[in-house]
Amino acid sequence: MKIELVTQIKSDVHVEFMTKKDVAKHQFKKILNKANFEAAQDSVCFLYDQDLLLVGTEDQSPENIRTATASAIKTLKASNVKSASFNVEKECMKAIVEGLILGGYEFNRYKSEPKKTALKRVDLVCKDIKALMKDFEEAVIIAEATCFTRDIVNTIPEDIHPETLAELARNLAKENTLECTILGEKALKKEKCGAMLAVGRASRHESQLIHLAYKPKKKAKKVITLVGKGLTYDSGGLSLKPGTSMVTMKMDKAGACAVLGIIKAISELKLDVEVHAFVGAVENMIGGDAYKPDDVLVSRSGKTIEVRNTDAEGRLVLVDVLDYAQEKVKADYIFDFATLTGACMVALGQYTTGVMGNSHELKHKLYEAANNSGELIGTLPFNKHLKKQLKSEIADICNISNKPYGGAITAGLFLDNFIKEENKEKWLHFDIAGSAYTESPWDVHTYGGTGAGVRMMSEFIKSL
Ligand code: BES
Ligand code: ZN
Ligand code: ZN
Repeated sequence: MKIELVTQIKSDVHVEFMTKKDVAKHQFKKILNKANFEAAQDSVCFLYDQDLLLVGTEDQSPENIRTATASAIKTLKASNVKSASFNVEKECMKAIVEGLILGGYEFNRYKSEPKKTALKRVDLVCKDIKALMKDFEEAVIIAEATCFTRDIVNTIPEDIHPETLAELARNLAKENTLECTILGEKALKKEKCGAMLAVGRASRHESQLIHLAYKPKKKAKKVITLVGKGLTYDSGGLSLKPGTSMVTMKMDKAGACAVLGIIKAISELKLDVEVHAFVGAVENMIGGDAYKPDDVLVSRSGKTIEVRNTDAEGRLVLVDVLDYAQEKVKADYIFDFATLTGACMVALGQYTTGVMGNSHELKHKLYEAANNSGELIGTLPFNKHLKKQLKSEIADICNISNKPYGGAITAGLFLDNFIKEENKEKWLHFDIAGSAYTESPWDVHTYGGTGAGVRMMSEFIKSL
């Protein structure tokens, strides 16, 4: 489906947004009444004879226009229409592009017969193409990077495992001229990544630490480090997940997929910032060689970790990657993305990303960026009492809390133990366990990966 900016309507069908109030004034109000169309948010009324698709919105806010557009594109794709058009202005450009690309997304890789759609072209009708081109192109880059992230999340663990994720990163580096360094297990041993290596030990796939770097042509305004949890499958390990909880755990690589999507977007937007994406790609499996509850691991930082649950594996991978990243790059900001805890969903619901860290100011900045981007985030506060719950009797720290409450925060506090003093205020942790994947549609998300993190972080980096 091609999306273009045009100055005149020349499509099969034109799409019109309308509010409840608009119904009473509409030229086809008799037909609308007959159809019982009240213009409720996201509802549609297809007037085939008039080549008109009407979509209800509560108001003209980007949030409502975005989901109304998603509703329109689904209706259009299910019809026999070949081309459609929307009126656009600067204020709604991003919302309409995202509604079209994110709302119209489908993942067909494993269907023997992909769904066919007649829709080939969507025209965005405006007065002045030149004036809107930059906004249009930016919105397309970010939305497509979000779909890129979704595609990887949705790919099954037989196709995306640590080695193939590294291959995918290598290809992204080639296409987008990024620097690329990949460490296999031999190099990881040299780097003393004892925590990360333990998690991947029972897998038939070799763990990989991926490092991509985007360096702008002009002097970089800021340096940003992104770290992603890339558990290509999380069976739980010997602390095995129950069968029903294991389903969907191909999505445990969503943090990694997000940071790859972000660096893709930033490099295509050609922003004057230096971005480093670090990914710990590991598969958490069972077997005779599996790491065990009761093991004590020596992490890259030298800190020892008592394992009491092998299903709290993401934090073990992350701390070695965070330690490596902090040594390799002196960054202004360090952000990690991880599907880290079920507890985050208990705390915030499944739509909201949990953000944690030591700087209220930075958390607030990211809250603003998320709001402007259409993503939802909520802060989960650290405190010294929860911190004590990670105490170990035999090692420096335990990989799980000794109490059943506040699990998202104690996971964040575990990571905080591996953030160097000089980086404490520069670092934020994003728990995307709920927001990264969905089994029922919401907002502009269809079944599967949502691409959580990509729009929010692109918005933040753009704002620097
Ligand atoms: N990958 C999971 C977290 C998760 C759960 C993500 C559900 C998405 C949906 C993580 O590795 C995990 O298993 N965490 C445990 C931690 C516990 C053992 C302290 C959890 O949340 O139960
Ligand atoms: Zn786990
Ligand atoms: Zn996990």
